[in-house]
Amino acid sequence: MSLSSRHLLGLQGVPREDIQLILDTAQTFKEVLQRPIPKVPTLRGKTVVNLFFEPSTRTRISFELAEKRLSADTVNFTASSSSVLKGETLRDTARNIEAMKVDIVVIRHSAAGAPHFLSRHVRANVINAGDGRHEHPTQALLDMMTLREKFGTLEGLRVAIVGDIANSRVARSNLYGLRTMGAEVALCGPRTLIPAEAELWGVPIFYDVDQAIAWADVLNVLRIQRERQARGYFPSLREYHMRWGITRKRLEKAGKPIVIMHPGPINRGIELDSDLADSEFSVILDQVTNGVAVRMAVLYLLSGETSVD
Ligand code: CP
Repeated sequence: MSLSSRHLLGLQGVPREDIQLILDTAQTFKEVLQRPIPKVPTLRGKTVVNLFFEPSTRTRISFELAEKRLSADTVNFTASSSSVLKGETLRDTARNIEAMKVDIVVIRHSAAGAPHFLSRHVRANVINAGDGRHEHPTQALLDMMTLREKFGTLEGLRVAIVGDIANSRVARSNLYGLRTMGAEVALCGPRTLIPAEAELWGVPIFYDVDQAIAWADVLNVLRIQRERQARGYFPSLREYHMRWGITRKRLEKAGKPIVIMHPGPINRGIELDSDLADSEFSVILDQVTNGVAVRMAVLYLLSGETSVD
């Protein structure tokens, strides 16, 4: 009942047994969350610090909720109101955390590798809540939990990740995790948003979204990062929607059931039609619900505690 690593830095190389254990444990915590009092004393006496150097809504709130549901003491840090603005380095921030005897650190950072760096400088367990364009392991775990609930298994499931693959940590973590669990993964998007290295990943790449829809059981639709649009990756948001946007018309043309996921935040009407995001095809809010259970599972399993209740 323990993970093979004391940190969760990414899903690349994480064994199937670890992912299975996290998903099974998350299912137990989902039951806890449905109780009249959705709280257990599992992490009583443990201190968790949430270090968010980048904006977040879902990940940050769900980590904080998960920690409170496990009765941990939590401390929140945001870069905009911290000594980072006065030039403090990540290493110094880490040393200060260490001095305060924190047990678990959750970190989101714009630099790929920041959680790995931290894990080498603190005794606490480190959880990556998204590092640059690298990985976002708890997002992929909650995506896998949602798909396992929907389909019963991940084995043989065909998941097409659509959109800005080049800039997406969600895409990388999903690719690693899903393939380990026996799913098939394909990538789809404009050539400018598929990284050159994707050719080496050994997965189908579709440049035509209708072909991806025809292939897939599930579309994991990524956010178009409008802040990067200035670099001219595609002519306009309107053209992106016309060529790559997931629309009801496109799904109806495919003539088969399909599940729509999105990690959020959604650009409604750009990568995904607004009505589809709220439709019978969508499991987007199930993903958010499962985020709390998955993060409870990761916190619990890394803490070394031996009883859920
Ligand atoms: N999915 C996700 O990481 O969303 P946030 O940026 O709001 O945390």
